[in-house]
Amino acid sequence: MSHKTNKKNDTVNEATIKLLVDSFYNKIRRDKDLAPIFEDSIGTTNEMWKPHLERMYLFWSSIMLSSGSYHGNPMQKHKSIPSFQPELFDRWLALFEETARELHTNNVAEIYVERSKRIAKSLKLALYYKPERKNQ
Ligand code: HEM
Repeated sequence: MSHKTNKKNDTVNEATIKLLVDSFYNKIRRDKDLAPIFEDSIGTTNEMWKPHLERMYLFWSSIMLSSGSYHGNPMQKHKSIPSFQPELFDRWLALFEETARELHTNNVAEIYVERSKRIAKSLKLALYYKPERKNQ
């Protein structure tokens, strides 16, 4: 048995966001399908991952705390990485949900899950919906 307290967090703040992001991307980096995609863009060392993690703290703080601290363009960023199977979004979302539920009480986890799904949906549309192909 671990001596760590297993009490789940019922609040969101910069410190819990950092825990969640770090823990989530540790899972990503151990996932056989997702890790290669991230490693191709970001790299393999902790030093190379640091800027990505820093941006993700700001991103989730903007989403969960309306902090306005993230200034980026996720659509453009994902469009510029080599294309990957859309099914991987389900794996991404499953790992994200698992992490949110490990760290947080249900009500907080559900807000994370709901927002992650909504953003994933719009990213997927931006990446795979090509209306100009309709008439071809
Ligand atoms: C299978 C699904 C996904 C894959 C493979 C993926 C992959 C990546 C990669 C490789 C990067 C780093 C790009 C770089 O810096 O070179 C990135 C950045 C990012 N991703 Fe994803 N992503 C996925 C889903 C999502 C979802 C669902 C969200 C939001 C809920 C998200 C939010 C972001 C954000 C905010 C960034 C940082 C953009 C910036 O640099 O400002 N991603 N993603």
